[in-house]
Amino acid sequence: MADQYAYSGDDKRPTEIPAIRWEEPPEGPVLVLLDQTRLPVEEVELVCTDAPALVEAIRSLAVRGAPLLGIAGAYGVALAAVRGFDVEEAAAALASARPTAVNLAVGVRRAQAAHEAALAKGGDIRQAAAAALAAARQLHREDAEASARMAEHGLALLDELLPGGGHRILTHCNTGSLVSGGEGTAFAVALAAHRAGRLRRLWVDETRPLLQGARLTAYEAARSGMAYTLLTDNAAGSLFAAGEVDAVLIGADRITADGSVANKIGSYPLAVLARYHHVPFIVVAPVTTVDADTPDGASIEVEQRAGHEVTEFVAPQVPVTGAEAGGGIPVAPLGTQAYNPAFDVTPPELVTAIVTEEGAVSPVTAEALAEVCARSRRV
Ligand code: MRU
Repeated sequence: MADQYAYSGDDKRPTEIPAIRWEEPPEGPVLVLLDQTRLPVEEVELVCTDAPALVEAIRSLAVRGAPLLGIAGAYGVALAAVRGFDVEEAAAALASARPTAVNLAVGVRRAQAAHEAALAKGGDIRQAAAAALAAARQLHREDAEASARMAEHGLALLDELLPGGGHRILTHCNTGSLVSGGEGTAFAVALAAHRAGRLRRLWVDETRPLLQGARLTAYEAARSGMAYTLLTDNAAGSLFAAGEVDAVLIGADRITADGSVANKIGSYPLAVLARYHHVPFIVVAPVTTVDADTPDGASIEVEQRAGHEVTEFVAPQVPVTGAEAGGGIPVAPLGTQAYNPAFDVTPPELVTAIVTEEGAVSPVTAEALAEVCARSRRV
């Protein structure tokens, strides 16, 4: 397929896009988020002064993506603690704000455990709050380091699987700086290939219904200067049939003990397509996304979201209000019921490899996954 589909823009903004930061203005500590619901139209920050505001930001997807949800959850606990709110109540609300990405509950628990440990050691409320904040900062740093290591392992795997270089990678949803303390998961691998001169093209699935691919991955790709092309999710099949995809790279919201992968709705059909067309299907995720307590894909709670995300086209700059309205332009008759799961589950036998910061697992088996996770100091 000709390169006339290439992005020909000239975006000179930095590749790094800080999606979250802790600030301490005189009025009191706050968590500042880049509001992802407004991208790519405008870069607007959202300032959270308490856990309920953060819970709302998580539900509305102002802050989203598995690793970033973990970081946000940890900072949310710290925010409740330093501002003197009920930490247990805040932790429970944050951990259950969205059900599928395990990182959220893991991040919350980590800051909460640090808080509890400080109190148990005889520390006062201020010391316990400082411990929660230190844990959140540590998780933030670790995620950035994990990103860099996933990129290294992922690029090495790509080079092994596709020795000719000139990779044409298809990705789904959004997995770059906007979901991470670093450069992300799957997108970080594509970025490493781009920097090494080995990425010919990033195919970006638009990712209906909320367009994380079109709005966010294309935004990240444009800023990185890589050659990328946006496609509707249902154009992927014809792209495979045309022999234009060398590998699929996606992230994950939860990987179960047996290696089943929950990720953005539309990932599983890509895995089926990839298998049929003999194309590697690679999942890139930190070990914090591996949930040894969930045995298999059938045990994953898949978030069901509001129907208006499907029956309306959500455009960030066009607010539409009304009883059942969701702020978008209607594209279906009023009252149409919608099926809107946010995620699907890909069974391990369709996954060529899972790349973590501790190395790649291929073939994907429960034993190999457990072994790679055991290498991590944090497991
Ligand atoms: O509903 P979202 O936008 O939070 O879904 C995000 C995804 O599905 C990502 O692919 C996943 O979290 C992996 S991000 C590294």
